[in-house]
Amino acid sequence: MSQQRVAVVTGATSGIGRAITGRLVQEGMGVVAAGRRAGRLGELAEELAGQPGAVLPLAGEMTQPGHTEELLAAAEREWGAASVFVASAGRGLPGTVLGSDAAQWRELLEVNYLAVLHQLRACAAVFTKQAEADGGSQVRDIVVIGSTVGRQVSAANPVYGSTKFAVHSLVEALRQEVCALNIRVTLIEPGFVRSGFQEAAGYDTAWFEGVAAASGPLLVPEDVAEVVQFVLDRPKHVHLDDIRLRPTRQKA
Ligand SMILES: NC(=O)c1ccc[n+]([C@@H]2O[C@H](COP(=O)([O-])OP(=O)(O)OC[C@H]3O[C@@H](n4cnc5c(N)ncnc54)[C@H](OP(=O)(O)O)[C@@H]3O)[C@@H](O)[C@H]2O)c1
Repeated sequence: MSQQRVAVVTGATSGIGRAITGRLVQEGMGVVAAGRRAGRLGELAEELAGQPGAVLPLAGEMTQPGHTEELLAAAEREWGAASVFVASAGRGLPGTVLGSDAAQWRELLEVNYLAVLHQLRACAAVFTKQAEADGGSQVRDIVVIGSTVGRQVSAANPVYGSTKFAVHSLVEALRQEVCALNIRVTLIEPGFVRSGFQEAAGYDTAWFEGVAAASGPLLVPEDVAEVVQFVLDRPKHVHLDDIRLRPTRQKA
């Protein structure tokens, strides 16, 4: 592998995180790829063998204490300190305040909010220490996949949406906390993306295909990956800190 940046990507077994991993590896980066499904990570590593970069699969549950620290330490052992962390892992929850399954609320909050907060703190702590050591001479990036429903209230999807509202506020707060050290904390807010997301959360297939018919073609994970690559490629003094991308025909 050439001398390129080293990254950690969560949610790499599927959808957006998987596409970002592929994109970064094509660009020559070393990527620690995380997610619970070890088999899928192995398949991804095989698929990307022969690309300029490399993948180190590391399966784990993101709500487990110490998970992020383990991912960053694995990157450092393999290639040297990571300077990119992409937080893509997350899940949805169909339904309204009255209509959603309350038995899933706690898990949703633990995955989409608390685990991401722990990821942000763990990663920012490591990046801050490194930046203090090198005087911020190197740019470091933390990229978080939020959502359009974390910016505009969705009456159809408010419980999931509220976890993204919460994460969006963390991203901007952390950006302000660490920007002086040349650490860029970036929020990407996709609209509808065709991925494993809908099936994993149990969204109604007929409803989703209706959305696709009305607003499609929908985004594909590679569309988001391209934006992430563009953000990372900006010169050190330029930060695209908040980007919303939607299918052109999606209204809200
Ligand atoms: N698809 C959309 O329309 C859309 C729109 C806006 C924003 N987003 C956001 O984009 C991000 C990625 O979603 P996606 O569309 O790529 O969905 P996806 O295809 O379902 O991918 C979700 C990823 O998150 C991982 N994950 C879920 N729970 C986890 C846990 N407890 N521990 C570790 N990893 C976990 C999954 O891996 P394992 O199951 O293997 O653990 C999977 O790799 C999410 O944050 C989502 O909220 C999606």
